Amino acid sequence: MKLGNTTVISFINLKGGVGKTTSAVNLAATLAKANIRSGTSIKPAKVLLIDLDPQSNASLTLLKPEEYNRDKTIVNLFRHELERHDTENSYDLDEIRIASIAGLNLDLIPSGLDLFDVQDELVRYQRYYLSATDILFNALNKLRESEDKAYTHIIIDCPPSLGLVTLNGLVLSRYYIVPTLLDAYSHWGLDKIIERVNTLRRCKASCEVELLGILFSRVDSKATIENEVWERKFQVWEQEYQQGLKKRTVEKITFETKIPTADVLRKAVSAHCPLIAYNPPDSNLKTAKEKQQRVWHDLVQEISERIKERR
Ligand SMILES: Nc1ncnc2c1ncn2[C@@H]1O[C@H](COP(=O)(O)OP(=O)(O)OP(=O)(O)O)[C@@H](O)[C@H]1O
Ligand SMILES: [Mg+2]
Repeated sequence: MKLGNTTVISFINLKGGVGKTTSAVNLAATLAKANIRSGTSIKPAKVLLIDLDPQSNASLTLLKPEEYNRDKTIVNLFRHELERHDTENSYDLDEIRIASIAGLNLDLIPSGLDLFDVQDELVRYQRYYLSATDILFNALNKLRESEDKAYTHIIIDCPPSLGLVTLNGLVLSRYYIVPTLLDAYSHWGLDKIIERVNTLRRCKASCEVELLGILFSRVDSKATIENEVWERKFQVWEQEYQQGLKKRTVEKITFETKIPTADVLRKAVSAHCPLIAYNPPDSNLKTAKEKQQRVWHDLVQEISERIKERR
């Protein structure tokens, strides 16, 4: 499903703690400082981050406790939709959207813990005109603004499951990225995620989401020997996956850019901001921040090039 010219990317993995939130937050914030080529012109990016995880880690990372309002979250959208009559207006996301996070061209739709309950209630959702997977798309479609104000990117942080709330994000995404640890067994679950997304696409013709890539996250740069061994396992998986695609041109699956483990990322989380907006208190942390931030710039570059090649 298309939202004008906006590029929508979801971060998913059935496994928890693999860097989905860290990647979604820092990719969104780094993009929000970038300039985007559109035809012959170059314009500043405008990014919306949607937190679809009931654990709300992206929201809590980007908002200070006094800025986070548990009564104004995406839960309101789903609750309104579960309770409204067909004749009532659908929900206006402006009620919960927070603009200019950390002074960046970055807006946020925060999540809340009650989204756990909503997931269960959505199973019983029945409406004549609407499916339970299309609630977020309809709300975003209503929000669509004039071309100059429209979002260039929407980034979605998903929970570690493929339940109905995650499906709301996937059906409107053009791409999904799977962050994964670089270790002995993480390649194991990848086929299942891809299979489930492919099933979604087969069942729902309007859903165009495709795998943009696998992102190695929390990589221990010192474990060079182990990393090489484990990367070879992923390469074997990648070759098998590519053979299954039966396409003439074989696309690269894993990203060249790997996200190293860095304490400075956790410090930024504690300071309630993305790394790019974090102000380190000493010179060591400043150096660490600059080094880590260069990695996020590299990732933005690699993602942009991959999207250009796919068009
Ligand atoms: N590159 C990194 N360096 C250091 N710490 C990291 C890095 N990436 C993630 N972390 C930390 O690891 C933990 C898990 O990361 P994150 O929350 O991004 O994973 P997740 O996949 O979103 O988890 P969940 O499935 O619970 O939503 C967090 O405490 C996060 O701060
Ligand atoms: Mg998360």
